[in-house]
Amino acid sequence: MGKDVIVACDFASKDAVMSFLDKFDGRKPFVKIGMELFYAEGPAIVREIKARGHKIFLDLKLHDIPNTVMKAMKVLSALDADMCNLHAAGTRAMMEAAIKGLTREDGTRPILIAVTQLTSTSQDAMREELLIDQPIDKVVMSYAENAKAAGLDGVVCSPLEAAKVHEVCGDDFLTVTPGVRFADGDKGDQVRVMTPEQAKLIGSDYIVVGRPITAAEDPVAAYERCIREFVDQQ
Ligand code: C5P
Repeated sequence: MGKDVIVACDFASKDAVMSFLDKFDGRKPFVKIGMELFYAEGPAIVREIKARGHKIFLDLKLHDIPNTVMKAMKVLSALDADMCNLHAAGTRAMMEAAIKGLTREDGTRPILIAVTQLTSTSQDAMREELLIDQPIDKVVMSYAENAKAAGLDGVVCSPLEAAKVHEVCGDDFLTVTPGVRFADGDKGDQVRVMTPEQAKLIGSDYIVVGRPITAAEDPVAAYERCIREFVDQQ
């Protein structure tokens, strides 16, 4: 599976995302559509961006009873998304049901990855609110192993966890990593960040990059720089 840069299109409306994508002219970046845009514009936004020739990571983080997740995934698969995700906390039964729902009649399906623990969840919150006493990195690796056992293709994780995930789950198990910043760029609200080049060296399979591209003065140049640093350089 080839490495790629996924652009997090965290926009609130179709107009905003389309005028952003218009800047790219001939290029067709892999696009991440999150809850904000999906809930604002509905499934039509997925069809329209697909029709323009982009691959789509539908970042809706499903978490419900297995039967509900299976049916919802069937709908997302019919939208022809290229990548979907869910919370590993939903259990193996839920993840297996998700794969069942995603798999099309011809046997193909979108890539399915799991969110382990959200990076916004602290060790204290895990212990005090979720009653999980184990260290957070152990929890993340255990959830990744559950996802692999259920047949998923990989996890969303911090670039700092990517090498360990590959060690535990194998090189073929995908790591999709946000928290990417240019060496000379603004970190914004991300705390533990890596450059595209570092993410490549550490073995990330896909980087998810939002504001360093969407808020750049020249988004196309920023995207090209990500591709150069993450994909092209040997
Ligand atoms: O703008 P920025 O590059 O920080 O955007 C990163 C994207 O990745 C956002 O869509 C954010 O929601 C997502 N994400 C993240 N950290 C996680 C999981 C997802 O930043 N742990």
